[in-house]
Amino acid sequence: MALRIITLLLFSANVVEGIIGLNWGRMTSQRLIPSTVVDLFLQNGIPEVKVFSFSENVMKAFSGSGIGLTISIPNEVIHDINSTNGAREWVRKTITRFVLKNINIKYVNIGAEPFSPSFWSKTYLGAVDVLKMIQDALNEAGHGDKTKATIPHLTDILKPNNTKPSEAEFRDDIKDLMIQSLQILKENNSPVMIDMFPILFVNENNLDIEFAFTDGKSTYFVVDDNGLNYTNAFDFMYDSILWAMKKSGAPDLKLVVGQIGWPTDGYPDANIANAERFYKSLLPRVESNRGTPLRPGVPIDLYIHSLCDENKMKTKFGAFQRHWGIYRNDGEPKFLIDLSGQGRDVYPTTAKGVTYMPKRWCIFNEDTSNLTKVKYEFEAACQEADCTSLAPGGSCSHLTYNQNVSYAFNRYFQVKSQKEDNKACQFDGLAKVVPDNPSTGTCIFPVEILEAEVADRGASIGGQGERVYMVFKLTTLLPLLLIILSFI
Ligand SMILES: *[C@@H]1O[C@H](CO)[C@@H](O)[C@H](O)[C@H]1NC(C)=O
Ligand SMILES: *[C@@H]1O[C@H](CO)[C@@H](O)[C@H](O)[C@H]1NC(C)=O
Ligand SMILES: *[C@@H]1O[C@H](CO)[C@@H](O)[C@H](O)[C@H]1NC(C)=O
Ligand SMILES: *[C@@H]1O[C@H](CO)[C@@H](O)[C@H](O)[C@H]1NC(C)=O
Ligand SMILES: *[C@@H]1O[C@H](CO)[C@@H](O)[C@H](O)[C@H]1NC(C)=O
Repeated sequence: MALRIITLLLFSANVVEGIIGLNWGRMTSQRLIPSTVVDLFLQNGIPEVKVFSFSENVMKAFSGSGIGLTISIPNEVIHDINSTNGAREWVRKTITRFVLKNINIKYVNIGAEPFSPSFWSKTYLGAVDVLKMIQDALNEAGHGDKTKATIPHLTDILKPNNTKPSEAEFRDDIKDLMIQSLQILKENNSPVMIDMFPILFVNENNLDIEFAFTDGKSTYFVVDDNGLNYTNAFDFMYDSILWAMKKSGAPDLKLVVGQIGWPTDGYPDANIANAERFYKSLLPRVESNRGTPLRPGVPIDLYIHSLCDENKMKTKFGAFQRHWGIYRNDGEPKFLIDLSGQGRDVYPTTAKGVTYMPKRWCIFNEDTSNLTKVKYEFEAACQEADCTSLAPGGSCSHLTYNQNVSYAFNRYFQVKSQKEDNKACQFDGLAKVVPDNPSTGTCIFPVEILEAEVADRGASIGGQGERVYMVFKLTTLLPLLLIILSFI
């Protein structure tokens, strides 16, 4: 009996659960203040968050929350850290400083998918060197047990067109770098991190859309060499990476899904109903610790991409890049999603303390006497504002031309925080402000939230915090300077 209790205790102490975390990107014109967002995470019981930059105000909001954070060093600054001292300095100025403020940093991402051919550049070749330097510096500073460095990858680190997971291998051009980095991760008990997007995978490979969902309704399947059946893209992609790791000498490393999600606009099959369906089976699956065919019963940590839509995101790969949010930009949930992974039909908690701009819209006054001018103003508005929902297949693609113009004018008006002195609703005499909501069908003409937080430019080598720090230094010096100047 005693033995049995001990065994049970040992067993329960060893039970590791998969973690459902959330990514929080902040490429938006107006945004929720950090304390509101931290509250949202706490209300929803989300234990881990990835922030892509680490501005001082964002980081401070997490102080004492117990939430585990992932922060990222952007691709462009990887080479700035390229020395042992550079890494020590970076760790001291960011990690040590944040840890002293009771901020819990779990992962440091070295770059953002630096080996993806979409982003590839010679400067990113330093990523593996910097991975080692940063982890060594973390270990040296005593953070190594809690804080792990890793490189987040996209599934395009694999050779294209594998028809079975067991065929997967890393691309030849990065294979040596992958082997080196896997060795560093292994030595430090750190995970491999992979970003995967089933909707893009099925589309790019001309597969049935059903294969993108994990709810088992797909009739498309692959039987691999070992008799394992694949009925969805998630298992397929996850196990493909595992196979490639295995072939590069790292079969046992933990594999974390750094980004996974379903956009709701701007791509074929990107809509609210499909996003809801996607998460409805994916999240309980994580919570069930079922694992994948190749690693059955092994828990998987994943980070949902993403908290809210980002209307300032670049759209190099398509309009969908601005529509990953499970929330709208104002902190209203878009669809049913049970973030605890129990698969219940519930909305996540709405953001609290959000202030909207007045309920006013800017629309086209339908003066079509000079169509050249209309076209010009329409396009100019979309340069600045987010018109991605107008694109074919988008939630506003059914609008008439005049409604198109109204949509663009309104987005511009809202991005400019409805400010008349910014000429936010002028458009060379073609626009007017109205009190009635012009939204129609699936197409929402949004009213923005109050601009409560100043945009930052993301992380430089020391992050926004470093710049704030410099300003602080200057102001303490300023009185002294004034005294000196007054003597000259
Ligand atoms: C990093 O430094 C090493 C040695 O100084 C150099 O060979 C390498 O090119 C540098 N990498 C980058 C990306 O700057
Ligand atoms: C992979 O498949 C795509 C689509 O079928 C094709 O365009 C591409 O050339 C293939 N790539 C390779 C390396 O075979
Ligand atoms: C895989 O699918 C085949 C064909 O439907 C089936 O006979 C086999 O039992 C399945 N294997 C597993 C492990 O589910
Ligand atoms: C129409 O508008 C354009 C651009 O504002 C202007 O250059 C052009 O002269 C206008 N045409 C007429 C007929 O007024
Ligand atoms: C509305 O604008 C979108 C994006 O520019 C375009 O694809 C669509 O054809 C336009 N609709 C009409 C009716 O002109």
